[in-house]
Amino acid sequence: MVATVDTFMILQLVLCIAIVQVAQAQDFNVLNYGARGDGITDDSKAFSNAWKAACGSASGSPTLQIPQGMKFLLKPITFKGPCKSSTIHVQLFGSIIAPSNPSAWAGFDRSKWLMFEYVNGLILDGNGRIDGQGSAWWQLCGKALVFHATNNLKVDGLTHLNSQRNHISINGADTVVLSNLHISAPEESHNTDGIDISNSKNIQISHSNISTGDDCVAINGGSSFINISDMTCGPGHGISVGSLGKAGAFETVEDVHVQHCTFIGTTNGARIKTWQGGSGYARRISFKDITLVAAQHPILISQFYTDFTESSRLNRTITTNDLKVSEITFARFHGTSATPSAITFQCSSQGGGCTGLRLDHIHITSSTGGKTFANCSSAHGSYHDVSPRVDHCLLR
Ligand SMILES: *[C@@H]1O[C@H](CO)[C@@H](O)[C@H](O)[C@H]1NC(C)=O
Ligand SMILES: *[C@@H]1O[C@H](CO)[C@@H](O)[C@H](O)[C@H]1NC(C)=O
Ligand SMILES: *[C@@H]1O[C@H](CO)[C@@H](O)[C@H](O)[C@H]1NC(C)=O
Ligand SMILES: *[C@@H]1O[C@H](CO)[C@@H](O)[C@H](O)[C@H]1NC(C)=O
Repeated sequence: MVATVDTFMILQLVLCIAIVQVAQAQDFNVLNYGARGDGITDDSKAFSNAWKAACGSASGSPTLQIPQGMKFLLKPITFKGPCKSSTIHVQLFGSIIAPSNPSAWAGFDRSKWLMFEYVNGLILDGNGRIDGQGSAWWQLCGKALVFHATNNLKVDGLTHLNSQRNHISINGADTVVLSNLHISAPEESHNTDGIDISNSKNIQISHSNISTGDDCVAINGGSSFINISDMTCGPGHGISVGSLGKAGAFETVEDVHVQHCTFIGTTNGARIKTWQGGSGYARRISFKDITLVAAQHPILISQFYTDFTESSRLNRTITTNDLKVSEITFARFHGTSATPSAITFQCSSQGGGCTGLRLDHIHITSSTGGKTFANCSSAHGSYHDVSPRVDHCLLR
């Protein structure tokens, strides 16, 4: 008799736990909303409906599921919040592909493909793939994956993000963790930054591999408290702060820390670039424990940046330089440079030059057996154990 009561109570308990679990984790599989996943049918409507259901769900942690082994063709689509639940999970195990036919993009805003906007507590993970499908796409479309005003964002483990042009863009976000990403685009694809950050703070990027035709990571105006670690970059243009101050803009970037990164065959390594005519500052920035494999300009600060469009190149009327570059640390760089210019500080005497530069334990040799040099103008700072020599170069 006692045993029977116990069994009954246990059964009740088990049932209770099961009910709680169902209520907590509610799954929204795109297949249940009409997605075909055949790589041909436009699944945008199904994704949109599945997202609306998940986003409108008040359960503990609604999960949008994109199953593995299937290819979902999506046209430009926005996943909009705010959602009812404080966290929302998107599990990407399958592939999301873009239409390869340019006519499929007609009538859409081509500046972005997949956008999450005003969604807080978003977790996007899985081992799935986001695939831009060829050059037609990167000629047509601006950004693959855009996060706009998404606070408390986590993106993890998308191992093959976009095989052609690709670009993660984070704008207006606070508290973002990106990890275990694998991003690749052809070296010759233009302006295909790997990860592009603007007007955002408290961002952590780690354990990722990026190869692209432009910056592996670009940190643009309005950004602060950015940590990047354990990243391999190449081919690509390196990890860049800026460009800042284009067309006279006031822009600021501060507290950026890059650590344990490797640059392989990149055109630059650690780079800060600002335009003449702009104002603002780039300050408290560090690059530490950097490995270089035939990077062309491993350490580079330029206050004379131009993108070589006709108008910017020919415009010699701009001479002011009020965008301050200060408190910049380069420490423990090891490896090779593919050009003689291992260290380049092109600072402008106009705004007082670059100040508070600190170089520590830098050992950069030539990948081609030649010499390496440091070239500076208006660069102020201190150094310890640096090769190539900077004693002729760095002003106190
Ligand atoms: C990055 O590349 C390294 C070396 O090839 C590899 O071991 C690692 O798994 C890669 N990481 C990702 C996230 O793709
Ligand atoms: C960045 O790193 C610093 C020092 O390790 C740490 O104090 C800070 O919390 C980190 N910030 C982010 C956003 O991860
Ligand atoms: C050159 O810069 C000046 C000053 O900012 C601006 O007024 C002018 O329009 C620019 N010219 C071109 C060709 O961009
Ligand atoms: C850089 O410095 C080296 C050594 O002082 C010099 O030979 C070279 O011409 C300089 N390069 C530039 C672009 O100024």
